[in-house]
Amino acid sequence: MASWQHAYWELLSRDYLRSLTVSDLTRSWRRRLTVPPPGEELWVAVTEDAVIAFCAAGPARDNRAWDGYAGEITYLYVHPSMVGRGVGTALMGFALGKLERRGCVWAEVAVLEGNHRARRFYDGLGMRFGGARWVDPRFEVPVIRHERALNAVVDFDSIRVESAR
Ligand SMILES: CC(C)(COP(=O)(O)OP(=O)(O)OC[C@H]1O[C@@H](n2cnc3c(N)ncnc32)[C@H](O)[C@@H]1OP(=O)(O)O)[C@@H](O)C(=O)NCCC(=O)NCCS
Repeated sequence: MASWQHAYWELLSRDYLRSLTVSDLTRSWRRRLTVPPPGEELWVAVTEDAVIAFCAAGPARDNRAWDGYAGEITYLYVHPSMVGRGVGTALMGFALGKLERRGCVWAEVAVLEGNHRARRFYDGLGMRFGGARWVDPRFEVPVIRHERALNAVVDFDSIRVESAR
């Protein structure tokens, strides 16, 4: 809840963000963890006494062309008091590695267009804006997709060199 409010204060309705409660979120997360979306896994980063970040990933929801081969980071939230210390990078390394081991060759993440910090973070991990942009129907704000290949097995440069000979 703190991460949402911190990250989205300038981007989403403040009335909505103020209306979030720990008990509502606990209830909805309990439901989601009991019956997770097919193929979704979730990881948490913890200190001795608290969860400080979580990340979830699963099959890409909107990528029919790469069905079975594209994975999506569905959640990545670090507590505001812990940002900039490498926790997000560590969770992403874990999640992308897991997608790769499940046979995914492509990874994507949807991010609010105005969430510049997160977009810089994904850029730094090689996940670039790939051109997809839409308006979130619930919050009516623009969302874009950052994406990258995983474990590329085809070296397109060498193929071009070979065929030019
Ligand atoms: C975006 C987000 C997930 C990034 O996680 P994070 O833990 O802050 O990221 P990291 O600390 O791993 O990396 C951020 C920066 O800190 C640097 N860093 C990494 N390890 C570090 C360390 N041990 N000490 C200091 N800095 C470090 C990274 O190089 C990176 O540098 P950059 O500013 O050039 O990108 C986090 O800021 C967050 O939860 N934001 C709010 C929610 C959100 O927007 N989620 C994304 C939804 S799509």
